[in-house]
Amino acid sequence: MGSGLGYGKVILFGEHFVVYGLPAIVSAIGSKTTASVKRLEIPELHLIDDRPEIPGYKKEKMEEQRKSIKNILRFCGINLEEQGLEVEFNGDLVAASGIGASAASCTGLAEALNDEFKLGFDKEKINAAAFEGEKAYHGNPSGIDNTAATYGGLIWFKRNLNEGPNIMEKLKMKEPTEIVIANTGVTASTTKVVADVRRQREKQPEKFDKIFKKYDRMVVEARAALLGNKLEKVGKLMNENQELLRQIEVSSPELENLINTSSNLGALGAKLTGTGKGGNMIALTPGKELQEKVYNKLLKQGYSVWKTLIGV
Ligand code: MEV
Repeated sequence: MGSGLGYGKVILFGEHFVVYGLPAIVSAIGSKTTASVKRLEIPELHLIDDRPEIPGYKKEKMEEQRKSIKNILRFCGINLEEQGLEVEFNGDLVAASGIGASAASCTGLAEALNDEFKLGFDKEKINAAAFEGEKAYHGNPSGIDNTAATYGGLIWFKRNLNEGPNIMEKLKMKEPTEIVIANTGVTASTTKVVADVRRQREKQPEKFDKIFKKYDRMVVEARAALLGNKLEKVGKLMNENQELLRQIEVSSPELENLINTSSNLGALGAKLTGTGKGGNMIALTPGKELQEKVYNKLLKQGYSVWKTLIGV
């Protein structure tokens, strides 16, 4: 049996903008998806998905998941007509939109196959295999999610639009800090939302150019603020990033409710994370007390909520 794991993630700055080659900042979180593979005598794929989930997520993503597994098997040179496999996913990362669930499972599977079939893949090759898997979920992924799932930590990521290697730089905060993640209960299709943004950009290129320019300055400031542990500034920039995400129409009433509630309770910043149009919100809540306060309130409102750290 072979095994592997992939980290969940939150995008702190730059979802959607990253698709167009602008830099983004992503942090892995403590929760992971584990994967294991076992060879079968019969030439078929037997899938066991025991990940905890936001109700409906796995069903909604089932077709994409099967395609994703096949993409990864093809990349690894494994033919299901010759070699049957049992693939099992598990771990404490909740399968939900916006938290890197698909990427974490792709990385986990690539690692498990590498382990079982002694493929000799290094991290770069594991990441490339996971990227192939992500294509089934995203259509045209930037590569940020699988990179975070594979390497963990806090990452500055810039997609190479010319097919060459992406830029990936590990960042280090002076100290980890608390955040709250809350799920809207709505599962969004990344492929669809990314395509909607692309259509909008084609219709309104000047509007998007202005937004991209603003964001490009913002993310450089955000990087400096994170490295210098200037959390008030990080929070303010998260709010500004959210405003740009509203302008490209990827927020939703549920996300806005989570953001307002968190901000009213004192979160330094709050924004959607990942695809948007549902999925997850993150709130910057330094210190256990503030984190607990925001967490408890959102929990009382009936949302699925998690407490975690960034910059570990
Ligand atoms: C999804 O987690 C992040 C997006 O920017 C898509 C991508 O980067 O591929 C929306």
